[in-house]
Amino acid sequence: MHQVTAPFAPALALPVLDEALARRLSERLAVVEELLAGHCRARTAYVSQAASHLMAAGGKRFRPLLVLLAAETGPHPERDEVLTAACVVELTHVASLYHDDVMDEADLRRGADTANARWDNNTAILTGDFLFGRSSELTADLGPEAVRIQARTFTRLVEGQILETVAPEPGEDALAHYLEVVAGKTGSLIATSARYGAMFAGAPAAVVEALTRYGEIVGSAFQLSDDILDIASDSVESGKTPGTDLREGVPTLPVLMAQASTDPEDARLLELLAADLTDDELHAEALGLLRKHPAMDEARAYVVARAEEAKALLGALEPGPVRTALEAFADIVATRSA
Ligand code: FPP
Ligand code: MG
Repeated sequence: MHQVTAPFAPALALPVLDEALARRLSERLAVVEELLAGHCRARTAYVSQAASHLMAAGGKRFRPLLVLLAAETGPHPERDEVLTAACVVELTHVASLYHDDVMDEADLRRGADTANARWDNNTAILTGDFLFGRSSELTADLGPEAVRIQARTFTRLVEGQILETVAPEPGEDALAHYLEVVAGKTGSLIATSARYGAMFAGAPAAVVEALTRYGEIVGSAFQLSDDILDIASDSVESGKTPGTDLREGVPTLPVLMAQASTDPEDARLLELLAADLTDDELHAEALGLLRKHPAMDEARAYVVARAEEAKALLGALEPGPVRTALEAFADIVATRSA
């Protein structure tokens, strides 16, 4: 029996109606949490502290939860490889957040100071690399197929993040460009989470394939709802500074939808969206106008439609509590408020 010693114990970020399934997932998630805390420990106190910083600050642990849930579709959800894979995806994710907060010059994440704010950019970047190294060590334990999947996932994730910093090609649709960014930087790792879970639990190939595609769409929907929350929430709800994408000039779904407006009443908003929003006053004005713009609901409806698309793929699974929980997972991702 594993003794849970991690300082952060995540609640199951999902209403699972089946009590036995909910208990299994909670217990395994607690084990993953303990393992993650161990993987953040380094030889020196400084690195241990920097590497544990974001992990201990919390998070929803969506990716490990999806690994564990997808594993329930196979005959061996209890295998150690499933737990290792859950650690791999969360360590990769957290590593990418250290880098992301440097790129975004963010000072708040999970309600805590970011590593770049608390220490400095060098520490944040290298700590991200450290965690990515840890994740790679664990992936090696999972074998060559996992290494190949992880490498491919990581190149997609990084390419998506790079694409976010460049404008669409001439003639390329701005929404299509943005959806490619989102699929790369977030869809890829969430697709791999679902794939690893099913694969290491020994699920049939058709189920592994369906869950990989489900994860890709749910992952994109997750990022789209994150982008909506970046505009809609205050920092108490999200644990982040609102309007970061606007300030950084990243045109996310609500912005792209608002920019399509031909309503003369939107003239001021469109002017602001085309301006440099690093100025606090202009930024606050744009955020205020965008929050009450119909593009917000339009963006939300788009995300709900993507979640429905993901749920339709679950037809490849046996009906039952696991499929129901995966459906709920897609719904929560689309309608989350934090
Ligand atoms: C969050 O985006 C960021 C990502 C989903 C991925 C970022 C990936 C990198 C920075 C490359 C990582 C490289 C290594 C070596 C680990 P966001 O800013 O839209 O979300 P936020 O609101 O959570 O900040
Ligand atoms: Mg960010």
